Amino acid sequence: DDDSRIHGIKSQIRVVPNFPKPGIMFQDITTLLLDRKAFKDTVDLFVERYKGKNISVVAGIEARGFIFGPPIALAIGAKFVPLRKPRKLPGKVISEKYTLEYGTDCLEMHIGAVEPDERALVVDDLIATGGTLCAAMNLLERSGAEVVECACVIEIPDLKGRERLNGKPLYVLVESH
Ligand code: PRP
Repeated sequence: DDDSRIHGIKSQIRVVPNFPKPGIMFQDITTLLLDRKAFKDTVDLFVERYKGKNISVVAGIEARGFIFGPPIALAIGAKFVPLRKPRKLPGKVISEKYTLEYGTDCLEMHIGAVEPDERALVVDDLIATGGTLCAAMNLLERSGAEVVECACVIEIPDLKGRERLNGKPLYVLVESH
């Protein structure tokens, strides 16, 4: 059932203390990818939730949204749009800055990748402060798309990232404290 699949997924995520800097408990999904059952269960749980929901575009956030987004997109019959860090995309882009703990970062999307009135799902591995997902949603909405939901494998609920999503629904498989 769903609970045993989710338990299996959680058990395959490696938590690495003090990476990449002191005080951070890094949630490492590379170990999840090595377990074919847990990797497949992760994709399947999202596909079961989103198939038949008329989603035409899955937008994946660099870098780990590029791992989970494409298999979901293929299985639900949607296209895949990469949202990239600055200066990686060769075409004309729109950009959204967002705040990090120290300083700012930015996500970019190709103009024309999404048509107005498309229904979009945003995929990433993890929500921490929510700044990244918020920027991703802004890119899609500026293109005229409707963001149906955001989907992540892991949420750090203590960081309250959900509160930055302006009421947009967020679906996660695993909470980590
Ligand atoms: C991580 C994670 C999310 C983001 C979440 O990416 O994969 O994309 O942080 O953080 P937030 O909710 O506080 O915005 P990271 O910054 O490590 O970039 P990378 O995937 O390019 O390594």
